[in-house]
Amino acid sequence: MNILSTLIESERLELRKSTKDDIDYILELTSKPENSKFIVRFPRVRYEKALESEDEMAIIIVEKSSGDRVGYFLVAGLRTHSIEWTHVVIDKKGVGYGHESLKLLKAWSFGVKKFHRGWLDCKDYNDRALHLYESEGLIREGIERDVLKIDDRFETLVIFSMLENEYEDRKQKKLEVDPEIILRAQTPYEFLT
Ligand SMILES: CC(C)(COP(=O)(O)OP(=O)(O)OC[C@H]1O[C@@H](n2cnc3c(N)ncnc32)[C@H](O)[C@@H]1OP(=O)(O)O)[C@@H](O)C(=O)NCCC(=O)NCCS
Repeated sequence: MNILSTLIESERLELRKSTKDDIDYILELTSKPENSKFIVRFPRVRYEKALESEDEMAIIIVEKSSGDRVGYFLVAGLRTHSIEWTHVVIDKKGVGYGHESLKLLKAWSFGVKKFHRGWLDCKDYNDRALHLYESEGLIREGIERDVLKIDDRFETLVIFSMLENEYEDRKQKKLEVDPEIILRAQTPYEFLT
């Protein structure tokens, strides 16, 4: 763990703020066909700007046992009450890192940064991600029909959100990671922006 860049961590994973050395990794990850078909890709300049931005941040997911990068989030709306979880991409799929890292992202968003609302959108045929978000307690708000035009096709997005009281309810039910417990277990510890 690098205490200077760690946002939050669990037993297996650490979320840390990206650096310029992560940009090639993010571009490679988002260009893999198994990921690119489910997201809207961004150019390098977007990630360069995010390094200095107060509105947006790229977050690297690190596997603690190996030190390997295993995925990334892009988050936006950081100066509002409503954080957008813009990109959710797990490279090492199918071992529960989607669940574990999303729990960490919710704990950081609500428990540390005190956002009121977290939200994201998801293509309506992305069954694995739809399952992940629903099983992590996100609420389906609605759909945006044919909102994307990819080549000659239109695509529909499903909007999901969670509110701070819903996160707190789930925390009471032990369905969420509690950052206060992590803090107590790992002092001295810093949660950075
Ligand atoms: C979607 C994604 C983030 C999930 O991460 P992951 O690490 O594979 O997820 P996990 O292993 O924690 O859990 C996946 C769950 O989906 C289930 N699943 C896998 N394929 C599925 C499918 N086709 N339909 C429904 N559920 C599926 C798994 O069985 C598992 O179920 P569980 O809740 O019972 O454990 C990851 O696969 C990914 O990055 N996909 C490509 C990019 C993407 O789609 N990003 C989201 C954009 S909105």
